[in-house]
Amino acid sequence: MSAVQDAGLHARLRAATGPAHAALERDLDWQARVATLLGYRALLARLHGFHAAWEPAIGGALGDPAFLDPRRRLGALVADLAALGLSPGGIAALPAARPIRLPDPAAATGALYVLEGSTLGGRLIARHIAALHGADAPCAYYRAHGSGSGAMWAAFRGRLDALPEAGAPAAEAAAVATFEALRAWLCAGEPVAPRSRRPADPVEAEAP
Ligand code: HEM
Repeated sequence: MSAVQDAGLHARLRAATGPAHAALERDLDWQARVATLLGYRALLARLHGFHAAWEPAIGGALGDPAFLDPRRRLGALVADLAALGLSPGGIAALPAARPIRLPDPAAATGALYVLEGSTLGGRLIARHIAALHGADAPCAYYRAHGSGSGAMWAAFRGRLDALPEAGAPAAEAAAVATFEALRAWLCAGEPVAPRSRRPADPVEAEAP
């Protein structure tokens, strides 16, 4: 058994998904995408499509709403998109990703590792957005757990390390597949900015 296999599941997942994290960070081009409020809104719209697909899939397979519900961030995305001027109809019409198959709680935990881990880098992105667009720029999604971040991440890591060894391969496979699906969804060549420009839109008005 290798040193990584000896380590807890958290260390295994971090090692297994390290290259996928690096690839996502490289390809996401997040600084360019959030440079304008319009671009930022378009990025949040893509994230909405991912969370809209993954959160119910994780919820169904995990079967633990008390643990998952405080970690859901679809509501934060809806709030940010609305504050950035997207209408309820526009939010409801956003495209959603197709989730991977999550056959059991271990796989769901591996997929959740990716969403929950993204709150760590999200804190840097939130600070960047506030510096660029002002402290009152809508940022509930990236602020995520706010001052509770440390405790939420510690609890999540504890959950990972408590997972029975038999579930580790499924968790690892789901984490890697979730990272790859997220990269494909966020970095695909599809247009990331709305095609039409409406002068009345507050975001349009503020965008340079
Ligand atoms: C949506 C895309 C992203 C996803 C899904 C993601 C996912 C993750 C995951 C799962 C972890 C936990 C690693 C561990 O087990 O320790 C993590 C940590 C981290 N990520 Fe990302 N990440 C994303 C984008 C980014 C970006 C763009 C940045 C750079 C701004 C970034 C910076 C970080 C940092 C600094 C940590 C470590 C934080 C710490 O240890 O305190 N991430 N991310």
